[in-house]
Amino acid sequence: MKAMRHISAPSNGLISETSSPAAVDARKHNALKEDRQDALLLGWDQNGTAVNWNPVQSVNPHVMILGESGFGKTYSTSCLIAELTRSHITSIIFDYGQGFTADSAHPTLLALAKPQQFEAARLGIHLNPFEILPSDLHGPLSVAQRIADTLGRVFPGIGIQQNAAIRDSIISLYKEVGIHSQVISSWQKPVPRFGRLRDALIENADDPGRSDRNVFRTAASHISSLFVFDVFRGTGISLPWTDLLRQANPVVIQLRGLEQNLQRAITELLLWNLMGLLESIGPGPLRTIIVIDEAHRMPMGAGSAVEKLLREGRKFGAGVILASQQPEDFTPVAFSNTATKLVFQISDHSSTVAKQLFRKLRTPIAFPVLCKILTTLERGNAFAISNNEGAAIRVATFEERFPRF
Ligand SMILES: Nc1ncnc2c1ncn2[C@@H]1O[C@H](COP(=O)(O)OP(=O)(O)OP(=O)(O)O)[C@@H](O)[C@H]1O
Ligand SMILES: [Mg+2]
Repeated sequence: MKAMRHISAPSNGLISETSSPAAVDARKHNALKEDRQDALLLGWDQNGTAVNWNPVQSVNPHVMILGESGFGKTYSTSCLIAELTRSHITSIIFDYGQGFTADSAHPTLLALAKPQQFEAARLGIHLNPFEILPSDLHGPLSVAQRIADTLGRVFPGIGIQQNAAIRDSIISLYKEVGIHSQVISSWQKPVPRFGRLRDALIENADDPGRSDRNVFRTAASHISSLFVFDVFRGTGISLPWTDLLRQANPVVIQLRGLEQNLQRAITELLLWNLMGLLESIGPGPLRTIIVIDEAHRMPMGAGSAVEKLLREGRKFGAGVILASQQPEDFTPVAFSNTATKLVFQISDHSSTVAKQLFRKLRTPIAFPVLCKILTTLERGNAFAISNNEGAAIRVATFEERFPRF
């Protein structure tokens, strides 16, 4: 029996191959033995045709996973992480408590992929968001604006004035240590501690000479949890991105137990840091897939880190898997910039999702049939779409993928 052949265009994320149902079992087995650097198994359609995801060769490696609670988003995400490990691609997983810890992840994922756990919530992170990255064209000004915008996106109550207060406070902190936007050589100097941001805001809030001191006070109080938990601290754990990306084992950044806004802020700041590093390495092959299960926790709108990943990530070797329960959790950019989609059962009362998918689908399927499929898929089954081709599939189980474990 020959190993599985992939016969469709390599630029497609989904690759299909038809064969007789009698060959399905043998092919499943062969697929697992084959060195699949490129095509990662998603599952099988009703004819037993293998449906794959090809993040390596695809111009768009991003995946959107949508579906109601309990239908298989985290399970299929875990399967894809294990498949990525087998294909030597590092997954970076932001875990807010949905099942990637050593005591909650699927045993096969743990045994096979050996995820490296980083207890960021408990131990803090040895990373300073004030670091000036090579991609920061305006040095301290770029960093100050990025941090102000990030905090504005994730902490409610930060308006235009508070945004400016945070940005200006950061710029003045840089000046205190001799870092000036016009003096490029000064960008190499040691940056201020991140915790100094709170001090700077409070100093301004306490300055009787300032008519706008209330703006500084409210800005400081809105972002206070960032400093109460002192997440970015010199004594925290290191995230050596370059080394981590060289190994295939998934990297799990544990943010469980932190308040949601804080989780969002940390995720964004870490994503900026990682993307800055990847950009400085330059364009290249797919280096990592970033996994955000429960993606409703993350801002995806204009200017956000997730939006940048979706729009530009592939250029510098990064893809993203976003999973969430509600269609509204995904922005139009997320919807249109994820070439691969796995849609598990959804209620879709007004057929909003069905309409969105149907508009782009090239596969001949009647609209009422698509609506019926999306609303009646059983657990572990999904409508898989890539590059506008779609099929209802049964997601391959861990046992089928990795029979030795
Ligand atoms: N393809 C599958 N094969 C076998 N079992 C599955 C499959 N998909 C899901 N399951 C089972 O269903 C359970 C629920 O799935 P999962 O945790 O992935 O749901 P979810 O969509 O992530 O839900 P939530 O939105 O609540 O997080 C899993 O614990 C797993 O046992
Ligand atoms: Mg889940």
